[in-house]
Amino acid sequence: MIVLGIESSCDETAVAIVKDKKDVLSSIVATQIDAHKEFGGVVPEVASRIHVENISICIEKALQEAGLTMAEIDAVAVTKGPGLIGCLHVGVQAAKTLAFAYHKPLVPVHHLAGHIYANELVVDLKYPVLALIVSGGNSELVYMKDEHSFEILGETQDDAIGEAYDKVARVLGLGYPGGPKIDKLAKEGKPVYTLPQPKTEGRYDFSFSGLKSGVLQFVKRMERNGQTFEMADLAASFQETALNEIFSRVERVLDDYPEIRHFVVGGGVSANSRLREKVEALQDKYPAVEFTVPPMYCCTDNASMIAIAGQIAYEAGRRADAGLTADCSWEIE
Ligand code: KG4
Repeated sequence: MIVLGIESSCDETAVAIVKDKKDVLSSIVATQIDAHKEFGGVVPEVASRIHVENISICIEKALQEAGLTMAEIDAVAVTKGPGLIGCLHVGVQAAKTLAFAYHKPLVPVHHLAGHIYANELVVDLKYPVLALIVSGGNSELVYMKDEHSFEILGETQDDAIGEAYDKVARVLGLGYPGGPKIDKLAKEGKPVYTLPQPKTEGRYDFSFSGLKSGVLQFVKRMERNGQTFEMADLAASFQETALNEIFSRVERVLDDYPEIRHFVVGGGVSANSRLREKVEALQDKYPAVEFTVPPMYCCTDNASMIAIAGQIAYEAGRRADAGLTADCSWEIE
């Protein structure tokens, strides 16, 4: 089966064509990072407009690169949500147009399901799976008893972890996107500063906004008192506190659900070098679990993951009609 996937939930316009869930025939990703740099974060209205400019070009390129015409595509899959509503609409309208003009089945895909199934590009998932999704818009722990069931065990109560990285980087004057910059700077420092430990009620939930404000207050306090501080140490302290929050929850789930066979990661923050070290360390502690941190092209937003998730959803009988609309807060189901 050959599926054309479309992804436009945030600041990447992406179109990919994937055969039988493993064979990526083409994958086009038009990133908007440069357009949002001057604002220090993604501006939703700007992002939607750039998607409109890019989407047809990306579709054409994806077909060209795969050497296919629409006649050879078996289904069109698209991210229905969650994400930025204006951005999602662009992908959904493009997918509807293609599906109905060429009489193809249309399959709505959940963005998080895409991040989880992206791991299929490098490994066969072994269920039950625990997936950690960490990006600019999401921080979630998802339990999958089998290929088609999703249970959100924990999620952020406020900011996503990537958002916290980006905002802290802005406070430190490092620029956007902040994650890679803090990652790099933190390597030169030590986590010597005590920052507020996030507090949540749910056993597996996260919180990052108190930590983010803690960094801002720390900087202001130092400036007010005329004291100096090491930026690298502050970056390392923020990173260690944020990742400890994540990994303490991951360990809780692994302890509470001993049947879990596979732990996978998705989303832009999985590029983080310290996060990768922490996953490696878990391997020794939980030898019965397989751990996968996929290469970056699978972690960040792309449309191969949407095409794969689309085929899985198609096989489970999921279809949409002309009434399909984007849903910015769609619950995974
Ligand atoms: O998944 P993604 O490409 O887009 C969405 O948010 O949907 O994730 C982007 C996020 C940004 O917040 C960026 O700062 C963060 O991933 N990021 C990182 C690193 N590389 C990207 N965060 C920490 N360390 C990194 N090396």
